[in-house]
Amino acid sequence: MRVAVVGLGYVGLVTGACLAEWEHDVTGVDADPRRLATLREGRVPFHEPRLPELVADGIANGRLSFTDDLRGAAAAAEMVIVAVGTHDGNGGWQTDTVRGALADIVPVMADDATLVIRSTLPPDFIKQLPALVASRRATAGVPPIPVMLNPEFTREGRAVRDYQQPDRVVLGVVSDPDGHGEAALRELYHSAAAPVVVMGAIDAAITKLGANLFLATKISFANELAEICDAFGADVDTVVDGMSYDSRIGGSFLRAGVGFGGSCLPNQVSMTIRTAAQFGVETPLLTAVDEVNHRRRSQVVERAATLLDGTVRGRRIALLGLTFKPDTDDLRDAPALTIAGELLELGATVVAYDPMPTARERSGTLVPGLEVVPAAADALRGADVAVLVTEWPEFVELDWALAGPTMSRRNIIDGRNVLRGAELAAAGFTYTSFGRGTVAPEVVEEGIGAGATRVASLQWGRG
Ligand code: UGA
Repeated sequence: MRVAVVGLGYVGLVTGACLAEWEHDVTGVDADPRRLATLREGRVPFHEPRLPELVADGIANGRLSFTDDLRGAAAAAEMVIVAVGTHDGNGGWQTDTVRGALADIVPVMADDATLVIRSTLPPDFIKQLPALVASRRATAGVPPIPVMLNPEFTREGRAVRDYQQPDRVVLGVVSDPDGHGEAALRELYHSAAAPVVVMGAIDAAITKLGANLFLATKISFANELAEICDAFGADVDTVVDGMSYDSRIGGSFLRAGVGFGGSCLPNQVSMTIRTAAQFGVETPLLTAVDEVNHRRRSQVVERAATLLDGTVRGRRIALLGLTFKPDTDDLRDAPALTIAGELLELGATVVAYDPMPTARERSGTLVPGLEVVPAAADALRGADVAVLVTEWPEFVELDWALAGPTMSRRNIIDGRNVLRGAELAAAGFTYTSFGRGTVAPEVVEEGIGAGATRVASLQWGRG
């Protein structure tokens, strides 16, 4: 199928490259000349595993090309997929970019082509879509075209896999009187062995939101459960494992820690709370999800202070990990940046390291005063507390026994519950995580060997 993908950010570029691999003929459209130049050289402007290979292959076999000629690409396509950004950068939606793209695309599309919206949009805008597209077609003196929604459920760091092996494909019918749009999308996805679920457009838009809101709720639930576990001396990992055998619950997205970040979950929680309020709907559950999530970041700072006799002022804190999760270079709403900002404000010296060079380069400018170093060892040297914020394998596999003696004090806050507390305590660390208690080196009485003591009664400052 001849496909034009409009907007070459995370969503659009993954979509275009994966479709090219499925042997569709894809033209990617973007207005940013620098982005286009990078892509034409076969380079991807952000980190996403397997994507550079797919882009390079697509360019080499001629099935993937890039242009800024939106109208030309739209006019030549059997399907136009709109994947432009919809965040206003301030926790809200903006629909101007989509509206602008549609104004150019809709009048020139072929009469037998299908318009597909993949950008995540507020439900009230979806309601306006049929009239908006129909009026632009009518003004141009051309017949109506099918309009479909195809929300995305891909995760950064696993986007190619998620796209090509989806759990389901959701198709929302905006306007498709003779079923041509649905048939075209089914053909587009013929290589994906997944159920195709067809529904109304508003249902599809809320399915997309609902999935993310539920995932966010699971994470905040796990984080609140972790606090309960800490209070009673239980281990949240063991508890979640015990719960996960219940098929009604499952075990995924219940990892406690510093909470969720990124461009999707936090934004979509806050945008939904705002939009719902505008329509007179109260969302106390989502408000709590948001609050629990944001509190996690401050709790890291409070824990650091508790470990350092009450204050971080004048202390050196090492942050391991800056990106909002591993295998991405994305710093949008990354917990590490908020934690760094709060620590700096309290007078700490904050030294951060992330394995992703581009994330290191950008984070210094995003958080004034943050010192960014090129190796984990540099961050840890002289540190009073190490905070593991992102569970990059490099940190999970780090030789802490080697790093310990270089630190000023051996304190670790494991923000992702991925390290082994007992081993670290045996190596002389005071180790704390979320919902798994705290272990400290045993107080060594003359001649008695060191071991680990669980310090279940340690009370964390609650501000
Ligand atoms: C999320 C959804 O998972 C995708 O299905 C969706 O398509 C995407 O948003 C989107 O709307 O575009 P993403 O933000 O890339 O994907 O990353 P996730 O894997 O969902 O992780 C989000 C955050 O939650 C990360 O900071 C991660 O560390 C955190 N998390 C995840 C936890 O704290 N605990 C968990 O158990 C799982």
